[in-house]
Amino acid sequence: MVSEEEIRARLEQAGQSHLLRFWAELEPAGRASLLTELALLDPDELREHCQRAAAACTQEQQGPLERLDARMQPVQPEFLGSVRKSDPQTLQLWEEEGFHQIAQNKVAVLLLAGGQGTRLGVTYPKGMYRVGLPSGKTLYELQAERICRVEQLAGRRHNTRCSVPWYIMTSEFTLKPTVEFFKENNFFQLDPDNVIMFEQRMLPAVSFNGQAILERKDKVAMAPDGNGGLYRALVDNRILEDMERRGVEYVHVYCVDNILVKMADPLFIGFCVLKGADCGAKVVEKAYPTEPVGVVCQVDGIYQVVEYSEVEVETVQRRDESGNLVFNAGNICNHFFTRNFLQTVTREFEPLLKSHVAIKKVPFVDEDGNLVKPLKPNGIKMEKFVFDVFQFSKNFVAFEVLREEEFSPLKNSDTANKDCPTTARQALLAQHYRWAVRAGAHFVDENGVRIPEQPSTLGTENPPVLCEISPLVSYFGEGLEAYLKDKDIHSPFILDENKAKLLEKA
Ligand code: UTP
Repeated sequence: MVSEEEIRARLEQAGQSHLLRFWAELEPAGRASLLTELALLDPDELREHCQRAAAACTQEQQGPLERLDARMQPVQPEFLGSVRKSDPQTLQLWEEEGFHQIAQNKVAVLLLAGGQGTRLGVTYPKGMYRVGLPSGKTLYELQAERICRVEQLAGRRHNTRCSVPWYIMTSEFTLKPTVEFFKENNFFQLDPDNVIMFEQRMLPAVSFNGQAILERKDKVAMAPDGNGGLYRALVDNRILEDMERRGVEYVHVYCVDNILVKMADPLFIGFCVLKGADCGAKVVEKAYPTEPVGVVCQVDGIYQVVEYSEVEVETVQRRDESGNLVFNAGNICNHFFTRNFLQTVTREFEPLLKSHVAIKKVPFVDEDGNLVKPLKPNGIKMEKFVFDVFQFSKNFVAFEVLREEEFSPLKNSDTANKDCPTTARQALLAQHYRWAVRAGAHFVDENGVRIPEQPSTLGTENPPVLCEISPLVSYFGEGLEAYLKDKDIHSPFILDENKAKLLEKA
């Protein structure tokens, strides 16, 4: 172990000597763990990190240096695919290509699950959250079942057995509980060899005056380095080598909190592959012109995500001659990367990625050693963003999908009324209701009387009945006629594998 003297010298060099201010009070175990933690921090990097955080925070509070409006162009039509605007034959071609790649074991999914989920306010990883579905499933379980099903669909089409490896990026907060949860649930029937969990790095949280924060007398407040920490984590954990060994060429990266995520989406994969893309982003139309979402577009001809705060409201509201919003490609953190592109990024470009400032409430110990849970934001976390690599792409594409079918993020608790457990649950149940009605199901009440159909129910509305379909039965609404056509169905209705077998026979 590095000695106390050595650590003191390093902290002095970094301008962070206050981290040892409770040393005299600590028990041997507390001292040992603090020294171990501090020994991992390089003094020059720590100094630079704290100074940069404080400077970036001051800058952030003054607003962006320049507006990007004059330099922005929308995604060029030839690099933009659309579910809504494409004809069925084209969609089928893309989907077939995606299934073909999956069947050859060339596709992996990569989950970004290292976040702390502070807005949702639970003490366990977000993937373990239950939004209150009739089945009681967690986000992880839904995702695991979608992988199972997409493997099955690709395998059947190509008469093969295939697998879609699931890479899960966790952090110090989420790794252990996630591993335990998967073990307790027998990896949701997936082959444990195909579920690869790895950890991203952590960085100290910093006060507004540039001091690393102590969350306990013997512990520095650390936070994961953002979902763009992915690129360093890929290197630290030799993940690209693992992908190469398995023959993976294409990676679908997504966030843990989108309950509708269509993992390893054959349509998206097929579109990107046939376009020869090295990097792609799924996008949705903005819900309304001033919706505060990042928009995928070009700045000086280079693709990036432009945040709402970086442009004037006139630009946000600008329409073309057909009346459509010009900047309408809302980023939903759902990306395609070739393994080669990830290799180039990790080898050449990762250090160039910008760090963004997140101002958060960080619990800390005050001068007197009391634990304080701040009511106002008091700390700076520096984060890299996964999408900041778009600028390095040689052939970038965007793919527009329908929001109500593919995007409903779980960010907040129900008090927020937006992007919360209730909206996520409703979005999924409304989708399953639409699928059932489309497959020919008739919902009836307790007296056998038909409940009038509302097949256009969108994600934000409560569907008229409770209908949940297991991803093991249907990945995206396919194949449901065999169980539901012309059947009278009572609500609540859960279509799982057993029920499907019974209905098929009936
Ligand atoms: P968010 O930016 O919404 O953050 O993450 P969060 O941690 O889930 O929630 P808050 O902000 O604390 O309330 C978007 C996605 O990026 C992942 C999250 O797990 C989520 O899937 N993420 C975020 C990481 O993997 N690592 C990080 O350091 C941050």
